[in-house]
Amino acid sequence: MEIVLLEKLTDPAKQEAIRQLLILADQEFVPPISARTSSTQMNLAPGGTGSVDAYYETIRDLPVVLALENDRVVGFMHFRFDHTCDHISYLPNAYACTSSVHPDGRGHGLMTKFYTAIIEAYPERMVCTRTWHTNLGHLHILRKLGFTETCCLENDRGEGIHTVYYALPPRV
Ligand SMILES: CC(C)(COP(=O)(O)OP(=O)(O)OC[C@H]1O[C@@H](n2cnc3c(N)ncnc32)[C@H](O)[C@@H]1OP(=O)(O)O)[C@@H](O)C(=O)NCCC(=O)NCCS
Repeated sequence: MEIVLLEKLTDPAKQEAIRQLLILADQEFVPPISARTSSTQMNLAPGGTGSVDAYYETIRDLPVVLALENDRVVGFMHFRFDHTCDHISYLPNAYACTSSVHPDGRGHGLMTKFYTAIIEAYPERMVCTRTWHTNLGHLHILRKLGFTETCCLENDRGEGIHTVYYALPPRV
């Protein structure tokens, strides 16, 4: 398995593979990707268009880390530089906005490697992300890598589902 960090992905076949991975995992996200219109939207109450495409358009041109098996995309993590919002103000940063691994490739450390690639490539940047508080696998990885919770928005994704922000300070 090859892990590749690209600040811009221009290969249409790999872009389409990412879109297909989003479709495959759509309902695992909380709320589903198809119920959102952007990777940075603050209102995470259900809505959206019923398709992943509006969301996908907002991540397509972002930097990405890919897991490639014989040039086939098994997983990805899109991230953006210097994302700020009400809960993230530190600059410079690298904000991991969307990640998914094909079900057959899970549990082999790929998401851990995506974060490690970003952490090592940009030691001067804070690395940050957000997720829902019941995404236990993701939270396990973040804590293992030394991230700490910086903010918790209770019931942000519906009753009893909180949004949590995590960050790792610069390493230099
Ligand atoms: C989240 C996701 C990307 C993780 O990818 P992955 O490549 O399987 O992740 P890794 O193999 O690097 O790590 C998974 C870790 O979580 C742990 N884990 C899995 N389920 C867990 C749970 N319920 N509770 C605690 N830890 C758990 C695993 O043991 C593993 O830790 P370890 O390496 O220390 O043993 C993948 O499950 C996925 O695509 N999920 C659907 C989409 C999604 O949730 N994306 C993230 C949205 S913010």
